[in-house]
Amino acid sequence: MSDTYAVNLDDVSKSFGAFKALNGVTLRVRQGEIYGLLGPNGAGKTTLIRLICGLLEAQAGKVTVLGQKMPNVSVLRHIGYMTQQAALYPAISVEENVSFFAAINGAEEGVREALELVQLWDRRGSVVATLSGGMRQRCSLACALVHKPELLLLDEPTVGIDPQLRVQFWDYFRRLAAAGTTLVVSSHVMDEADRCQRLGLIQYGRLLAEGSPADIRAQGGSRNLEDAFLALAGSKGS
Ligand SMILES: Nc1ncnc2c1ncn2[C@@H]1O[C@H](COP(=O)(O)OP(=O)(O)O)[C@@H](O)[C@H]1O
Ligand SMILES: [Mg+2]
Repeated sequence: MSDTYAVNLDDVSKSFGAFKALNGVTLRVRQGEIYGLLGPNGAGKTTLIRLICGLLEAQAGKVTVLGQKMPNVSVLRHIGYMTQQAALYPAISVEENVSFFAAINGAEEGVREALELVQLWDRRGSVVATLSGGMRQRCSLACALVHKPELLLLDEPTVGIDPQLRVQFWDYFRRLAAAGTTLVVSSHVMDEADRCQRLGLIQYGRLLAEGSPADIRAQGGSRNLEDAFLALAGSKGS
């Protein structure tokens, strides 16, 4: 079988000073898969995502993304990264922000589609500083996917998003995955976890368990994903 992993982390560790934020994580995400990274605050989710896109470098282990060892600048244009705190230019408009991210990736023609998807086309002229938190989140998503990346990294993308739009986001994520885009989505919200094809549970920088939502329920001995997670965290956490 050919290696079709979009993301391949092999025994990866990352420390900040003496603090080990990730400790021997091995994780693989197949092309076209929606992989959910679940874990409490401080578990290491954002650190893992930053290693995947090459903003951080692992001290030990190997990170391979779209067939290239990371960090690798040439892979960046194939990755979309929605950061946990919206990284937008506050003094310019919604459309100017999305156009900027489109331009640096050579994808100017995708701006309208991205803005319509997040329902900000009508607000395209608004200066970002005047937007609500949820609108900024939506603008940030538009910036991450305007260039139609092969790999989309979404760090808690639906925080501050109302339930209706959240459903629409997930419909769109599923359509992207069906068309071959790989998605890694971090969350601490369990009802979102159920929308992923596969989950990795992280705590204290370690991968505690991995599998489909059904697998995780079985491993944790509960029909409720939250209880299953707590059971797994309690039995393996330190
Ligand atoms: N640049 C950094 N310098 C020092 N500590 C950091 C840095 N980035 C993350 N950490 C620490 O690493 C741990 C994991 O953080 P993070 O990956 O942001 O967790 P999560 O996204 O799961 O909430 C936390 O204890 C955090 O304080
Ligand atoms: Mg985080």
